[in-house]
Amino acid sequence: MKPLSKRTTYFTDSVIRRMTRISDKYGAVNLSQGFPDFDPPGEITERLRDIALEGPHQYALTWGAKNFRDALAAKMKHFSGLDIDPEREIAVTCGSTEAMMAAMMSVVDPGDKVVIFSPFYENYGADAVLSGAEPIYVALKPPLFNFDLEELERAVSREGVKALILCNPSNPCGKVFSEEELREIAYLAVKYDIYVITDEVYEHIVYKPFRHTYMAAVEGMRERTVMCSSLSKTYSITGWRLGYVIAPFDVTERVKKVHDFLTVGAAAPLMEAAVVGLKMSDGYYEELQSHYTHMRDLFVNGLSDIGLKCTVPQGAYYVLMDISEFGYEDDNRFCVDLAEKVGVGAVPGSSFFRENVNHLIRFHFAKKDETLIEALNRLEYIRHKL
Ligand SMILES: Cc1ncc(COP(=O)(O)O)c(C=O)c1O
Repeated sequence: MKPLSKRTTYFTDSVIRRMTRISDKYGAVNLSQGFPDFDPPGEITERLRDIALEGPHQYALTWGAKNFRDALAAKMKHFSGLDIDPEREIAVTCGSTEAMMAAMMSVVDPGDKVVIFSPFYENYGADAVLSGAEPIYVALKPPLFNFDLEELERAVSREGVKALILCNPSNPCGKVFSEEELREIAYLAVKYDIYVITDEVYEHIVYKPFRHTYMAAVEGMRERTVMCSSLSKTYSITGWRLGYVIAPFDVTERVKKVHDFLTVGAAAPLMEAAVVGLKMSDGYYEELQSHYTHMRDLFVNGLSDIGLKCTVPQGAYYVLMDISEFGYEDDNRFCVDLAEKVGVGAVPGSSFFRENVNHLIRFHFAKKDETLIEALNRLEYIRHKL
């Protein structure tokens, strides 16, 4: 038999999703893959119930239903001040996952380079391989996960760099890039004529006093930002697979073509129901923020009471916990033991870092109080079991 494609040998299956399967196998409280165990807003699910009878049930326009794109453009205007043309500058995709892949396929050619901050969301490695791009990593340095501007400039100025990938707020480190940092990145993007492909799925999960700034709203960046985001986290509907790309017309045209042949379109009935979410008032987002602040405090304080050290995120819903005291050389082995012997699922930190980091694991805390309390109760015995 002839060998299968090279591109599919260069990355593994998702470690995050693998850890969900391992957690399920051992009946662990699954704090690995980031999805809530509480319900989406009732307004959205009630609308979905009606739509089950009323439709639509057939293909929507491939780049997204008009009322969805209109509502999204209005929401973006409200939160970012940007005027987005819903006819020309939005492509609705199956989650931010497809949005990022379509954005990469539209911007880079095989052999181009893309700059990625490390730690990074693991999909970007596979996105780079599948689109043929060569990643160049720039470290975000703990404890605040700041970057060194000179190091960033050295990376961005390399021959063949086409784009920088920016996850803001960041999974896994919880960094929210400040306006000043975004302006520094923007300065380099303009100077070296590169695109910035953003992943802003946690745009509404930011803890006070931190604030989310949209890269596209930074001066000079509207024409070179390819924004990817999604409804997964904002409305607790990760299974609906609704995301989007917002970009200038010439980029969106390319994204639409890639999207058309990858998936044809996002699910029509789900798009229709989600319009209710896109039209929610400010109160919804304030409530979301205070709910997440509550979950973060419950979990971070709980770990600290047990004497476990972790990062305190500025945004998104993850903590990185230091496991040095347990003496494991392999954080993958640690996470399997944690699921099996302690009964809590986590993701090995090494799957997010380019650098040789194996003393961190990632938990997420988008869970009901009782789930987080159960996980903390189990973690209380970690030192007896590992
Ligand atoms: C940074 C980041 N981007 C994208 C995704 C996936 O988003 P979606 O469900 O919209 O595909 C996740 C999910 O955990 C994420 O953390």
